[in-house]
Amino acid sequence: MKEKLNIAKNYIESKTGFKPEIAIVLGSGLGDYADTLDEVVIEFDYASIPGFPVSTAPGHASKLTFGCKKGKCVALFAGRFHCYEGYSAAETVIPLRTILMMGAKYVLLTNAAGGINTDFAAGDLMVVEDHINFSAHNALTGPNIDELGPRFPDMSFAYAKEIRDMIDATAKENGMKLRHGVYGYMVGPSYETPAEIRALRTLGADAVGMSTVHEVVAASHAGAKTAAISCISNLAAGVAKHALTMEEVIEAGKMVASKMRTLIDGVVEKLE
Ligand code: HPA
Repeated sequence: MKEKLNIAKNYIESKTGFKPEIAIVLGSGLGDYADTLDEVVIEFDYASIPGFPVSTAPGHASKLTFGCKKGKCVALFAGRFHCYEGYSAAETVIPLRTILMMGAKYVLLTNAAGGINTDFAAGDLMVVEDHINFSAHNALTGPNIDELGPRFPDMSFAYAKEIRDMIDATAKENGMKLRHGVYGYMVGPSYETPAEIRALRTLGADAVGMSTVHEVVAASHAGAKTAAISCISNLAAGVAKHALTMEEVIEAGKMVASKMRTLIDGVVEKLE
């Protein structure tokens, strides 16, 4: 794993001297954010970077863009990797860990999620306050990469209050309502059963999705200040009265893309 990260890092550094400060991962239907950068410095197809996996998920591009936004150096991931594609949890975080190895100090993740909390509606945005990993997978499985962080990293503050406060402040400035809650991670790719959703609700999850937690663990391990925002793209199985479809998830992502953009911009602007 460490070799793969070094190969990817060396390749990227052979192409550019750009030093990313903020890594942003764009979820389903949210990949257009790269269009809003003030300046694009360089773009990489994931497939061109040795060591990187190749994305297979619908609604996800496979592009890493380095650019400037509000005077900050940003690495944007349009497209991410999921365990349901057949990758190990450790493989799914290779791109993010490459950027962490390059020195990024902040990580902002977005995703699409099903709403479990019955107060939620499709189209809501939820600031993730914590997560529950309902899988047996962990991104740090395997030899520890000591240069990045410790073998047994603390997760008490995995979702940085400082960034969550910036998201809340941005929402307030723009008259937007936000939800707050716990993200439950399920491997997928099947959506959950209604009984699973009832169980997840009982166990404290407000939303459910198939991404993000491995990235949060990897970022937190590396000491990066991290936050995540979920687009509640649908009500979860059994809460919704109809069958769930991927199209619904991608459509909802597109509908809230401008709000998500506002929140990301606010955080990028406020970060030191
Ligand atoms: N379940 C799991 N993942 C999801 C969902 C869902 O309902 N919606 C978007 N991603």
